[in-house]
Parts: sequence; structure tokens; C-alpha cells
Amino acid sequence: MIDKNKPVVVTGADGFIGSHLTEALLERGYRVRALAQYNSFNNWGWLEGMSYPGLEVVCGDVRDPNFCRELCRGAGTVFHLAALIAIPYSYVAPDSYVDTNIKGTLNMLQAVRDTGCDRIVVTSTSEVYGTALYVPIDEKHPRQPQSPYSATKIGADALAESFYRAFELPVVIARPFNTYGPRQSARAIIPTIISQIASGAEEIKVGDLSPTRDFNFVADTARGFIALGEAEGIEGRDINIATGTEVTMAETLKLIAELMGKPETRYVVDPARLRPSKSEVNRLCGDSTLIRELTDWRPAYDLREGLAKTIEWFVNPENLAKYKPDIYNR
Ligand SMILES: NC(=O)c1ccc[n+]([C@@H]2O[C@H](COP(=O)([O-])OP(=O)(O)OC[C@H]3O[C@@H](n4cnc5c(N)ncnc54)[C@H](O)[C@@H]3O)[C@@H](O)[C@H]2O)c1
Repeated sequence: MIDKNKPVVVTGADGFIGSHLTEALLERGYRVRALAQYNSFNNWGWLEGMSYPGLEVVCGDVRDPNFCRELCRGAGTVFHLAALIAIPYSYVAPDSYVDTNIKGTLNMLQAVRDTGCDRIVVTSTSEVYGTALYVPIDEKHPRQPQSPYSATKIGADALAESFYRAFELPVVIARPFNTYGPRQSARAIIPTIISQIASGAEEIKVGDLSPTRDFNFVADTARGFIALGEAEGIEGRDINIATGTEVTMAETLKLIAELMGKPETRYVVDPARLRPSKSEVNRLCGDSTLIRELTDWRPAYDLREGLAKTIEWFVNPENLAKYKPDIYNR
């Protein structure tokens, strides 16, 4: 149900998941109006060098309601991914998270309402669930804000739900579990491990390796978004994008080291990378029953395959040069 005659808006298109989603939409023949956050360098992030006839790059800011209205004018489906997403940075700059994640989402909802777009897919996160009270985590699991980041995503989800109920706005909430792959910021565990090993470090710095995660390869997450953009009759639903598998950070590190041919890699826990204990989300494993029922989406990559693709990308010197493996990137 994504209308090919109207542009599809992607916010956060300059970022990790948004750039992959933008490419996946363009590959399927959609026209994409891709938002890169305005900056004076005219830097389009991961959209730099992307060239497709259907791609229109727009620079702006979701904190500006007037800009959001103009962004949505004439568009069909809107994928709203723009956000501040680093948990450690949300400890030091929570105001920015409220402005971007809550107010930014409100602005996009209001813009879709004002301009009459066909659907808005709002991006949530598995972080809203906090440490699993039961697994696999389905959409009914309680919300537990364990970081300012999570709190702002819970707020944004609530606004999206309220716009569906109050105004019948065609809203779908996509809730990806942890996503990894080429282009991810080194603040996340998988790129931080890969980029340090690829830079020749014999002892790498990590945070707590005991938590578990349900990792989605980014191509699968992008297909999940498109499936939720296309499926009929799912307005008002919040829907997990998850594999239903669970792995510890320590097991992930071991697998990466093995795939990179450095099984002897040692690690040291860097206290700066530890979350306060009550803020650490110890266990995440998602239930994907709903998305499987409502769409034909299935993950195509297991962790080993997705990691191999990710490593292949990171070890390319041109890509690795964009990272600073010796500096902790929160
Ligand atoms: N990466 C994950 O594991 C994961 C998991 C679940 C949900 N998510 C969600 O997916 C979305 C994308 O995350 P990502 O991992 O690609 O992160 P990312 O940081 O790479 O992308 C977010 C993008 O939002 C843009 N942005 C930030 N503030 C903006 C503003 N004020 N105006 C316009 N653009 C702005 C940034 O330029 C950035 O490129 C986010 O909503 C995030 O909460 C990510």
C-alpha cells in the first residue's frame, strides 16, 4: 500500500538504519524524499555518494514544526526514524532527547495530519521494554524506562498511539530490536568490537559483556520497515521487528573474533562504558509472532551471516577510516 506515485519520506535517512531503508526503497522503485539533518557543512551523512534517479535529499530538522509540514507536503508514506539514539549521551544531554525524540515525533505526527499523508511509520525501540520480565518479549510487555533515551521513545510511542486514537491518524509503530551492520556508529557494541580488532588492537575495550540481545541484521530491519509500510489494515498497532534469538555480548565478541581470524583477542572492561546498574538492560529477546502474522517478513540473515557481512564492510580501509576506534564514542 505504499503509493509509488508519491514520494516516500524517510527521516533519519542520513543515519545507519535510515540510509539502508532509503536504498532498499529506491531499489524497489519508490521515489524517496530523504531527510539529512541540517548542518553548515552540507554533509548528508550516509547519503553522501548515494545516487539514484528517485532520490531527493532535503536538509532540515525535525525539531522545527514548519519544516516538518513542508517535508511531508505531497508525500504518501512517511518513515520517521530521526532520533538521538545513544544511551550514554542521553545521561548527559536529556533535554536534547526530549526535543528531538518527543517534540520531533510530535512535529512529524502533526505534519502528517496537516498534509494528509497516507501513513506514518514511527520508529520505537526494544529499549522501551527494559530488562525482560519474560521472554520472548511480545508487544504487551510492560514499558520500563531505564534511560532518558528509553523514556523519550516511550513518550514518542505514546504520542503516536494518541494521534491514532484521537484523530484516526494512520500510524504504525515499528519496534526494532538491536540492529547491526555496515555504517553503524561505533557507540554500539558490534562496531566497537570490529573496528578495534580491525585496527590491530590486541586488547580491546568493552563495557558489560553479560547482557543478552536479539540482534537484527540491518537489511532485515529495513525490510521489516517496508513490510510495515506496505501491510494493509495495521494502523494503530505497535509491532516488534525481532529474530527471537538471544545471545550474550561475550558470545558475540567471541564469534566476531573467530570470524576475523583473531580468536586470541583479549578484552578489558572500560568503566567509562558501563551503564549505571539499574539502567543496564540485562536481557532482550523479542517475540516476532505479530509481524510474522501480519506480513510475510522473516529474517533472512542469522548472526554469523550478518556479522560476516558487517566485518567485510568494516575491514575495507576506506570505511574503517571513517571511525576512531581508539576513542570511546558515546
Ligand atoms: N540501531 C539500533 O539498534 C536501533 C534499534 C531500535 C531502534 N532504533 C531506532 O532506529 C532509528 C534510527 O537509528 P540508527 O541506529 O540508524 O541511528 P543513527 O544515529 O545512525 O540515525 C539517526 C539519524 O537521525 C538524525 N537526526 C538526529 N536528530 C535530528 C534532528 N533534530 N533532525 C533531523 N534529523 C535528526 C541523525 O542525523 C541521524 O543520522 C532511531 O529512531 C532509533 O531510535 C535503532
